[in-house]
Amino acid sequence: MSGYRRNFISDYDGLAGQWWDPRGPLAPLGWIARARAEFVPAANTADGGADIPQARLLDVACGGGLFGPHLAGKGYRVFGVDLSAMALKEALGHGFDAVARADITRLPFADASFDVVTAGQCLEHVPDPYAVVAELCRVLRPGGTLIVDTIPDTRTARLVAITLAENLPLPGRPARGTHDHRLFVNRERLTRVARAHGVELRLLGLRPRFRDFIRYLAGRREEVRMVPITSTSVLYLGVGTKR
Ligand SMILES: C[S@@+](CC[C@H](N)C(=O)[O-])C[C@H]1O[C@@H](n2cnc3c(N)ncnc32)[C@H](O)[C@@H]1O
Repeated sequence: MSGYRRNFISDYDGLAGQWWDPRGPLAPLGWIARARAEFVPAANTADGGADIPQARLLDVACGGGLFGPHLAGKGYRVFGVDLSAMALKEALGHGFDAVARADITRLPFADASFDVVTAGQCLEHVPDPYAVVAELCRVLRPGGTLIVDTIPDTRTARLVAITLAENLPLPGRPARGTHDHRLFVNRERLTRVARAHGVELRLLGLRPRFRDFIRYLAGRREEVRMVPITSTSVLYLGVGTKR
């Protein structure tokens, strides 16, 4: 992808049509989306009746909506925001009920207006991910669930997510310049900020299932399952409930 500028977000518009390509540059996002969905609790619809409003889930920086299909059957009305208008169009066709073009640093929603808030693979694209985390906590209701996944500011992450992932000529390779290691997210600080805003995050790492990955490379699988691991040094997910 010539001309792709490092972390220049509107270039996600240029990826329209590639969000759902299982061997394209965004394919790993789909693998992570499936893993993230495991942490979304089923909405409490027990005998709600007509007067109880449907539970609301907000996926910030939702991109082309790769998370949407994994939320089917969980009982949420699914909202998405992103800066890329082209990506949002795709999200609408994939399980998102409503989308808005908005900056995740200033969400156009009232305090405590969502039951679940998710932020997948976007904190490492913004200059102040900690301010975004505060904003995510603001729109989450007490008792609601926050789920974030991102890349830590470690040397190993830089090696794996940039040097190897962006340069080895393999299917699912992110475009060169997709990531800037200076934006990778410090785990302690992220946890501290979430705690200060009422959410105690539990961190865990994720890695591709090796067997799936080999089969994917050999063209014998279209998707790679991600497995939880204790090491958070390359890719991590944080999940917590708001006090
Ligand atoms: C790597 S993609 C992740 C997309 C999606 N969350 C997923 O996991 O498939 C990063 C997304 O963040 C969006 N983005 C980056 N900065 C943003 C901002 N400040 N406000 C809204 N969206 C932003 C981009 O447009 C892009 O769709």
